Amino acid sequence: GKVAVLMGGKSAEREISLISGKAVLAALQSKGVDAHAFDPAVLPIWEIRKEGFDRAFIALHGRFGEDGTVQGALETLGVPYTGSGVMASALSMDKWRTKLVWLAAGVPTPKYRILTPQTDLAGVIAELGLPLIVKPAREGSSIGVTKVRTPADMAAAFALAHQLDPIVIAEEFVAGQELTAAVLGEQALPLVRIEAPEEGYDYNNKYFTDEVRYHCPAGIRPDVAEAIQQSALRAFQVLGCKGWGRADVILRADGSYAFLEMNTAPGMTSHSLVPMAARATGMSFEDLCVDILARASF
Ligand code: DAL
Ligand code: MG
Repeated sequence: GKVAVLMGGKSAEREISLISGKAVLAALQSKGVDAHAFDPAVLPIWEIRKEGFDRAFIALHGRFGEDGTVQGALETLGVPYTGSGVMASALSMDKWRTKLVWLAAGVPTPKYRILTPQTDLAGVIAELGLPLIVKPAREGSSIGVTKVRTPADMAAAFALAHQLDPIVIAEEFVAGQELTAAVLGEQALPLVRIEAPEEGYDYNNKYFTDEVRYHCPAGIRPDVAEAIQQSALRAFQVLGCKGWGRADVILRADGSYAFLEMNTAPGMTSHSLVPMAARATGMSFEDLCVDILARASF
């Protein structure tokens, strides 16, 4: 039947979603799938049935697409879709509640505090140390994220994040190697290690420069890699995720590690990480897209 590749949407990550969606669309078409673009910011999602689609590949990032809202609409309309369901999508979109679940389940995650306009920011700095990370709870692609290096930067970092989301997280900065763990079905794919330049793995460097180097295999101790992959599966399962996803992790020099977040509709751009991990197992981008689509359900 006809497959809708959902892309665009109205989140702050719209631009990235269009890049992911176009890549997925071309890949599915190259495999003979009758796939078409569908932008729920242009055509309301309930038109999906009228247009004759009987499955959806969700390549939307961020709110109004990765957060359970579109998933709920598709369930109501009876259209199977890729990736996690309503609850896991909503939970994973919210980095605060993700941490609460992970802490309860024994999945390590960095120390944090929730910031409100009433919070004593100096007290948070005293508790978490500097540098620290300030971020909106429900954004992606590093939008609204600040690495706070001096106390003077804290108020502006809070204001920036708070403009995007009333829930703002201050998180201990974990020094170490940046890794990502993709999950496909019930399996963890090989870890990818991200080697970012001094200014960091930010929005621009994630997608629009070639400043970042990616390593897969990650070049870390096999037993540590195995432990992180197992934890990634647990991190995925306790949130109720399914189909595919990507957990972002920091590995400290002492071998301990901390999970930052779960992405339930990860980037599928030419710079994106899940495709790199799949390629390391011999799976092409086209095969990856077909595999994710084959798991569509609800
Ligand atoms: N939020 C971006 C698209 C990612 O996690 O890949
Ligand atoms: Mg994310």
